[in-house]
Amino acid sequence: MNATNESSEPSLFQKVDHYIAQLVAPETEPMQAATQRILAQGWGDQSISPVQGKMLEVMARACHTKRILELGTFGAYSTLWLAQALPENGYLLTIESSTQHALVAKQTIETSPKASCIDLRVGRAMDILHELIQQHVEPFDFIFIDADKPPYKEYMELAIRLSRPGTLIVCDNVIRGGKILDPHATDEKVLGVQRLNTFLQTCTTVTATILQTIGSKEYDGMVLAVVNE
Ligand code: DHB
Ligand code: MG
Repeated sequence: MNATNESSEPSLFQKVDHYIAQLVAPETEPMQAATQRILAQGWGDQSISPVQGKMLEVMARACHTKRILELGTFGAYSTLWLAQALPENGYLLTIESSTQHALVAKQTIETSPKASCIDLRVGRAMDILHELIQQHVEPFDFIFIDADKPPYKEYMELAIRLSRPGTLIVCDNVIRGGKILDPHATDEKVLGVQRLNTFLQTCTTVTATILQTIGSKEYDGMVLAVVNE
């Protein structure tokens, strides 16, 4: 199943997504500009949708989030949504390995009303996470994993080490149009999320579920995992 039809007519999922977005997830001007900046680069729009952005903001607010960690900034579209959940003295660390993505993200972050709270670091998430652990940084209240898919399980394990009981960890793209059902998958992205999803089956450190996501984007899903006491 795919949320996008063969025809140019929007699917029911797309129409309903648009309806929800109009009601409760209107984009700010910086968000619209962020998408234009991404498309102008000729990059596929891998950002989350407005409705998904609002969902992240709602969840981050529910955690009374003061410190957010994001892996995979891309064009900083999701960063803008997450930053909306922060108090004035909040902190959002977002990590991007691509210098090209980071250059565009930097322009977008400068337009955020919460720009002073946002720390964009360019480098491999794996290296930066290990540094943060060594530095014994304060735990994060909300963590969004949306970086390269092959090491998703390792990112989850490191995210747990940077968390506290009650921290919510969300991982994007864990259903991949249903390709995760294929036991013979060879795509490294599919294999990466399969490893994460299987890890959650026996991981006792978090209480987790997986939410299927449909709407204006491809059929996919997000892990929602809360760190146990
Ligand atoms: C891909 C990555 C993403 O973060 C996303 O939301 C969609 C697709 C990808 O690498 O294929
Ligand atoms: Mg993603």
